[in-house]
Amino acid sequence: MDETAGAAARAAELRGLIEYHSRRYYDLDDPEISDAEFDGLVRDLRALEEAHPDLVTPDSPTQKVGGSVSTAFSEVRHRMPMMSLDNAFSFDELVAWGKRMERYIDGDVDFVCELKIDGIAISLLYEDGRYVRAATRGNGVVGEDVTDNVRTIAVVPDRLSVPPDRTPAVLEVRGEIYMPLSAFEDLNERRGQAGERLFANPRNSAAGSLRQKDPRVTASRELAFFAYQLGEITGDGAPRFRRHSETLEFLTEAGLPVNPEIRRVTTMHDVDGFCRHWLEHRHSLDYEIDGAVVKVDDLAQRMELGATSKSPRWAIAYKFPAEQATTLLKDVMVSIGRTGKATPFAMLEPVQVSGSTVQLATLHNEDQVAKKDVRPGDTVFVRKAGDVIPEVVGPVLSKRPADLAEWLFPETCPVCGEPLVRVEGESDTFCTNVECPAQRAGRIGHFAGRGAMDIEGLGEKRVMQLIDAGLLHDPADLYSLTYGDLIALEGFADLSVRNLLAAIEASKGRPLANLLIGLSIRHLGGRGAEVLAGAMGHLDRIVAATEDELAAVEGVGPTIAHSVAEFFALDTNVAMVDRLRQAGLNFEGAVGGEPELPRTLGGKALVVTGTLESMSRDAAADAIKARGGTSPGSVSRKTAWLVAGAEPGAAKVAKAAEYGVPVIDEPTFLRVLETGQP
Ligand code: IVH
Repeated sequence: MDETAGAAARAAELRGLIEYHSRRYYDLDDPEISDAEFDGLVRDLRALEEAHPDLVTPDSPTQKVGGSVSTAFSEVRHRMPMMSLDNAFSFDELVAWGKRMERYIDGDVDFVCELKIDGIAISLLYEDGRYVRAATRGNGVVGEDVTDNVRTIAVVPDRLSVPPDRTPAVLEVRGEIYMPLSAFEDLNERRGQAGERLFANPRNSAAGSLRQKDPRVTASRELAFFAYQLGEITGDGAPRFRRHSETLEFLTEAGLPVNPEIRRVTTMHDVDGFCRHWLEHRHSLDYEIDGAVVKVDDLAQRMELGATSKSPRWAIAYKFPAEQATTLLKDVMVSIGRTGKATPFAMLEPVQVSGSTVQLATLHNEDQVAKKDVRPGDTVFVRKAGDVIPEVVGPVLSKRPADLAEWLFPETCPVCGEPLVRVEGESDTFCTNVECPAQRAGRIGHFAGRGAMDIEGLGEKRVMQLIDAGLLHDPADLYSLTYGDLIALEGFADLSVRNLLAAIEASKGRPLANLLIGLSIRHLGGRGAEVLAGAMGHLDRIVAATEDELAAVEGVGPTIAHSVAEFFALDTNVAMVDRLRQAGLNFEGAVGGEPELPRTLGGKALVVTGTLESMSRDAAADAIKARGGTSPGSVSRKTAWLVAGAEPGAAKVAKAAEYGVPVIDEPTFLRVLETGQP
């Protein structure tokens, strides 16, 4: 095949792919590829057409607006076509666009910077101030009539709040219908419980909710709307405008919701600043944005610039790098933690998400895997919200190979081969073999870690190395390590051996509560350990106490009491305590009621979200208060830190980003409790 024929074949292929994926996205609300992958196809086609202009056809997807009109709704012909926007995928492309504008236009160009709301474009029509019609973009010329559905959206006014003498006879306004993140999470939670298919993201969720035959379904879905563009406006009293920014002010006065983050700027430098700011802070919002839209403010300048067949020249969308991608789920594996908890995780074909490569993602527990219905061999959506942990959203069902087997939780521990047991009434599964090497490594690592015995220089890697060398079986073995043992190991030199031995020695004097934390007793976190140490005063008394005696301690619930009693009922654990005693560890705690803790948090507010490993959320709140801090239920500007455990609440994380509140993980939180500093 010669080069031209090859290019023609590729262009035809790209057009086919774009049309297929466009239909899945716009019409079926069920995409198979991520937005970034879709944009990539369009970009490839555009590059090809630029290199071979004779290949451009009038119906090429580069020449028209995506989306079509479903027969489920009646058609609405737009009074003015609803165009889409050209994209810039980098700051350089954005600045190049701005420079072009400034060259075309005599005089200064002012810009309006807006957020690119990730929802569904809509046109609303008001006649004599009354809401009469709403239409989707459809193919840009003809859209779908969704009047009754949009009427159910609380923020869409039924009447404009404009004085009668200034009320336009016709006002057409364009904007975006979206679903706030909090509403999206609630909806998916409910759908999950009802065994219904989950929506992949808020955009699909908004689209699915809007395009319902029954407006009552739409009404139940908490949709919202932002107006961003005035369409037609007629009537004797109707105001006349010179600038886009004036139209937005008018729309606001008329009672239409206009996004509060919109900024009018006078230089490309400020445009760039706006885009960079939102690239960094996008997760502070309770709705998803996929970029920024930059528009020329002066309406006369807009006329001068005009439009191509598809998009105006006076506006551009700066698109953020992808946060969602699709990739192959190669396998689901299970990792064993220090308490024996078996956590399933996804092994993914490496994929770029938000600028980093993702190949592992936790799946939390058996129920989560079932709820998401992801199976090895599936193509899955992977997303990453800001710096937060990558997440497998769900499978692309249309790509699932036939007869793909469901993933079943393994019955035996992948490390020691002993049975895995799911505790009744809980979602977690455990390896119950306390001798399991994976648990052992986890326990020793935890014992040496921050918040427990804090042995500097003994990280996870070294623990594994010492276990492999046969030097460590349990935490007590740390205290019989010798210079000779360590110097013989790879990676150790005279100084590092001395430092490690000194750090181990120093740990002997740590408070009893730290020692208790270090023992990895299930459910016993920092607060519980402190209460127990304070109330019982000595490790031997805790070892000897019955479950009832433990439960009688103020601040120790039946769960902790049971688990502590169970721990010390095991001979191996009692023997380990004896060896710790012989090594000279401190077993004594401050006696008498509530231990006086250092007021490390004096007045600071810490909000806790998600599941912490070492303590319940209530225990975390108690631990904060015991150190002079407060633990309110929601994030505000006054919050000092947001503590995020597993599966943190997205709304809280978003608020924290909005207010610039630092988000800290559990180990950092334990450090903050102890020292007041992250
Ligand atoms: S202006 C002709 N402003 O992005 C200009 N669009 O392809 C019309 N969008 O279809 C669009 N936020 O669905 C504009 N602040 C904003 C927007 C916005 C989101 C969507 C809209 C449009 C698509 C661009």
